[in-house]
Amino acid sequence: MFAIILGTRPEIIKMSPIIRSCERKGVNFFVLHTGQHYSYEMDRVFFEELGLPAPEVNLDIGSKSHAEQTGAIMTGVEKVLFEKRPDVVLVQGDTNTVLAGALAASKCRVRGERSLPVEVGHVEAGLRSFDRTMPEEVNRVVADHLSDYLFAPTNSARKNLRREGIEKRKIFVTGNTIVDAVFENLALSEKKANIVHELGLSADNYFLVTLHRQENVDDKKRLKGILDGLTRIHDSYGLPLVFPVHPRTEKMIKSFGLKIKGIQTIKPMGFLEFLQLESKARLALTDSGGVQEESCILKVPCVTIRDSTERPETLDVGANVIAGVDPRSIADAAEKMLDTPRSWENPFGDGKAGDRIIKILCA
Ligand code: UD1
Ligand code: UDP
Repeated sequence: MFAIILGTRPEIIKMSPIIRSCERKGVNFFVLHTGQHYSYEMDRVFFEELGLPAPEVNLDIGSKSHAEQTGAIMTGVEKVLFEKRPDVVLVQGDTNTVLAGALAASKCRVRGERSLPVEVGHVEAGLRSFDRTMPEEVNRVVADHLSDYLFAPTNSARKNLRREGIEKRKIFVTGNTIVDAVFENLALSEKKANIVHELGLSADNYFLVTLHRQENVDDKKRLKGILDGLTRIHDSYGLPLVFPVHPRTEKMIKSFGLKIKGIQTIKPMGFLEFLQLESKARLALTDSGGVQEESCILKVPCVTIRDSTERPETLDVGANVIAGVDPRSIADAAEKMLDTPRSWENPFGDGKAGDRIIKILCA
């Protein structure tokens, strides 16, 4: 039996192809939700839109400091694993849920009376920004080194793992499950969502913005620089900037008392609505990992508002640039990417990563 652990918006989306694959193949699994994300638009909407089974267990951990959140998830996960005794625990990505899930599972197999011979699989293994000040970098490095199965999305991720001494036999290059999720849902999003029209936008005539990285939005100077850069872009092109605001970002904009000019803020979108907004945008400006990948898959140029990326494949194919957080460099990066021909190849795989991962685990 597989325990599929997830806790945040991107994990629900990127685990969905794996859950689907288990269902198709009749593989025994259960979903353990840590409750790291809990607001309807950060959590339940994705289960509903993607037609996923409700989690068998929800730990309801909620928002806390890094250590408190990680510790609370570990305690909850350990209890569930000893009760349900799965053969494999699967985690996805680089959140505190991933760190805590992988660590709790690894500790369950320490020899002794209660020892549980559980293995750990890390989906989206081997990504590296080489910046240990990002919480996600710490989480992904630790999760990789605890895992028995490392599902690297690309060869460059595989190379990172080999460089760190992780054994060849543990690493499988599968593609990224986000390609599966995009391919499975793009047509549905066209059919079911009408958000571009509802927001009074027209295809290829607006910019899409997302922001939520702690190092960007919890730092007043950086956040102000980013918002100023976005206002400059609005002033230069006269096109709408649409910004579904992550709850962390909403909280910080309010607490810093920052003003937003030239940007249309909206609540976080469901996946079908967001895919439509993303696929029809002229340009994406983001600090999200998933949005860098999706815009690359959807052939929408991307400006990454960060100092580094763990998705260098998007830079290599010419779909993305790193802009930092200085207003001028964000505006310059947007100008550069608007002239980019959209002819790159998708480096993240063929959309069959979910099936590939389940096939490897079943074998
Ligand atoms: C987390 C992950 C990040 C991932 C992101 C996806 C870590 C360290 N961070 O960041 O890697 O990119 O999820 O979106 O694991 N909040 C709500 N409702 C929710 C969830 C959060 O209002 O459902 C607010 C709370 O004020 C909370 C804040 O957002 O304090 C931050 O939430 P948290 O889960 O700690 O981190 P994220 O920024 O969401
Ligand atoms: N997303 C969404 N609605 C939104 C913003 C993003 O459905 O309003 C999706 C997006 O399609 C992508 C994922 O959320 O698949 C990215 O999550 P996020 O940016 O929160 O986290 P990251 O990928 O940086 O870890």
